[in-house]
Amino acid sequence: MESSGTALSCTPAAFLLLHLSLMSSMARQNELQTGLTGGEVTLNCTGILPDSQLPRDIVVSWKYSDTLLWRMEKNNRYWKKPTFITGRADIKMQYKQLSVWNLKLSDTGIYTCEYGTHKVHTSLHIFNCFENPDLERKYATVDSTVILSWHLNSQKIKWKEGFTGKLNWKQQESTKSHELLDFNITAQGQLHETKKSNNLLFEIPERKPESTIEVKLPKVYFNHSGQYQCQLEYQGRHAQSKIELVVMKVSANPAGPLSRGANMILTCQVAGPLAPDASLRWERVNGTKMDIKNSKQREAKLEVNISAAGLWSCHLIEDGDKKISFHYHVEEASVWMNYVIIGASIGGSLLAFALGCLCIISGTSWHRRRQRAKRMAQARQHLRENKTCQCQHRPKK
Ligand SMILES: *[C@@H]1O[C@H](CO)[C@@H](O)[C@H](O)[C@H]1NC(C)=O
Ligand SMILES: *[C@@H]1O[C@H](CO)[C@@H](O)[C@H](O)[C@H]1NC(C)=O
Repeated sequence: MESSGTALSCTPAAFLLLHLSLMSSMARQNELQTGLTGGEVTLNCTGILPDSQLPRDIVVSWKYSDTLLWRMEKNNRYWKKPTFITGRADIKMQYKQLSVWNLKLSDTGIYTCEYGTHKVHTSLHIFNCFENPDLERKYATVDSTVILSWHLNSQKIKWKEGFTGKLNWKQQESTKSHELLDFNITAQGQLHETKKSNNLLFEIPERKPESTIEVKLPKVYFNHSGQYQCQLEYQGRHAQSKIELVVMKVSANPAGPLSRGANMILTCQVAGPLAPDASLRWERVNGTKMDIKNSKQREAKLEVNISAAGLWSCHLIEDGDKKISFHYHVEEASVWMNYVIIGASIGGSLLAFALGCLCIISGTSWHRRRQRAKRMAQARQHLRENKTCQCQHRPKK
């Protein structure tokens, strides 16, 4: 325990109170606090007297590592030059607690409250469903496979107790959200997950990095777009982090090969939360400038009327970057039609030939049969005539 020079100059009553408070607290104290991103924490300046009983000339300060955040001298409080925390923090004057809200991962660190010769260190850990930015947008084409994952930074954090969480999916244009899975993490850092939805369109991958919440969509449907939100609950507080899934699909009308001189309409559509400056573009690979069509901003559907076959690509453009592309191969019908015509004519000739042969063969045999029948009839006739002759001639012998 340390005695305080400032305390000695105080009135006896104040001295006694301060002395009692020093007796009940250690001169150096280490505390542990946990916060969730977007949440709020209040860090205590443990052992300090309430404002009304605090000696008038005591100096109180809050520091983050070596950076001075706040300092009070003889009741004149001022913030030191703006820091990372400015605008997101305040001092609760009664007990000089430091409140910080809209927490960021980077707020993690050691916070020190100093009053007189006392120092209270608080180690603040911020927890998140990353360690990613608060919002991430992911892009997929219909029928592809997508894995959405949230890395939990729980391993680096000492927990007083376990916490729970869940993963929700809110479909685009829908207000209802579906719970996909819930999970809990023990104080030892073990993760348990339970699949909540009977919807078989998603899977929990068997092999995945440790402390990661993951869902796999083996075959993305257009209506899988929307918000996937990982939500944590710890000591009655919530933190969430969402991934927005944007899905792209392409269709052709009429479907099938494009015949020479004919037209076809290609339609490109995206579903999901789009950036304010998002737009769609159709273009033909190795085509001309005439083969490019852009949508207006935030238009989720773009049609192009084409007359040239080839590889057509639809791009979703955000912030000047192509975020996702769908490549659609338009076959030229002439090639295809040629095969059909050649095939049909070969087939036709073969058929005609075969029929011809059949006719000739059957014609010939019919002719032969007819000849044979005729000959036999003649022979029978001759025979009858001969017999008659013999009968007639015999008596004359
Ligand atoms: C954590 O999850 C497992 C598996 O779902 C469950 O058996 C267990 O009771 C849960 N624990 C808590 C504290 O919720
Ligand atoms: C576009 O042009 C490049 C270079 O000439 C060529 O390698 C590629 O195959 C072409 N792609 C298509 C789809 O025509």
